[in-house]
Amino acid sequence: MDLKELIYKRKSTRSYKNEAVDAVTLNKISDFASKMKALYPDIRVKWEFADRDGIRCMLPWTTPQNIVIWSEDKDGAYENVGFLFQQMDLYLQSLGLGACWLGMGRPNGKATGEDGLKFMIVLAFGIPKEDPHRKDISEFSRKPMADISDVEDERLEVARLAPSSVNSQPWYFTHDGDRIHVYCAHGGIFRGKGLALMNKIDMGIALAHIYVANPETFEFFDAEADEIKDRYYIGSIKI
Ligand SMILES: Cc1cc2nc3c(=O)[nH]c(=O)nc-3n(C[C@H](O)[C@H](O)[C@H](O)COP(=O)(O)O)c2cc1C
Repeated sequence: MDLKELIYKRKSTRSYKNEAVDAVTLNKISDFASKMKALYPDIRVKWEFADRDGIRCMLPWTTPQNIVIWSEDKDGAYENVGFLFQQMDLYLQSLGLGACWLGMGRPNGKATGEDGLKFMIVLAFGIPKEDPHRKDISEFSRKPMADISDVEDERLEVARLAPSSVNSQPWYFTHDGDRIHVYCAHGGIFRGKGLALMNKIDMGIALAHIYVANPETFEFFDAEADEIKDRYYIGSIKI
């Protein structure tokens, strides 16, 4: 299955066999990581594999292996990490592996590495106990198109299906000629700083789905679009 098809099948897997992914597959994953497209190519990002003992997480499930992601702390860093590693989420699932973003995970040790890079998020992966794919689009629990876009636009279906922290789906799209402006919901009073940062990762994830579906034509740029009520501007795209 290619990565675009996986957008319509993927899901978060939370049940794993207690078996490590083999070295050949880990090499393929490393190789794929070196080819992922960045949203902000100037932001330095680093990732590494970490085993179960390298991660702190309060969830009842764990995986033998994880990807821990670090980045330079700059504007756009969280969106960039979401954009890069959603390509990885799809790739892992294309190998028949399960994967799940882990906003609740932390590396054991400091949140700032020796090289000054800041810890961003963990992507857990491993050998799933069950089929890591959805059979049908009806299995996605997502907002309708009318709630995420000012006009019905089939090209945004791939963003609509994207995963997000606590399934918050913070994205909103407005159309302006051949440009689409991309917005993120502001956290309400019940939403903490942590979720606001996770929402920036979510925005990169949704943009990654649009990129994977339109790899030849996808462009991301700053069009200095107007703010809209309850949402802040992330950037604009052409697809
Ligand atoms: C940035 C981010 C952080 C997440 N953190 C967690 C987490 O800590 N624990 C967890 O079980 N799921 C986590 N998820 C998975 C979401 O709950 C899941 O993507 C969402 O409910 C949609 O379901 P789906 O991925 O199966 O389509 C996270 C997802 C994203 C995108």
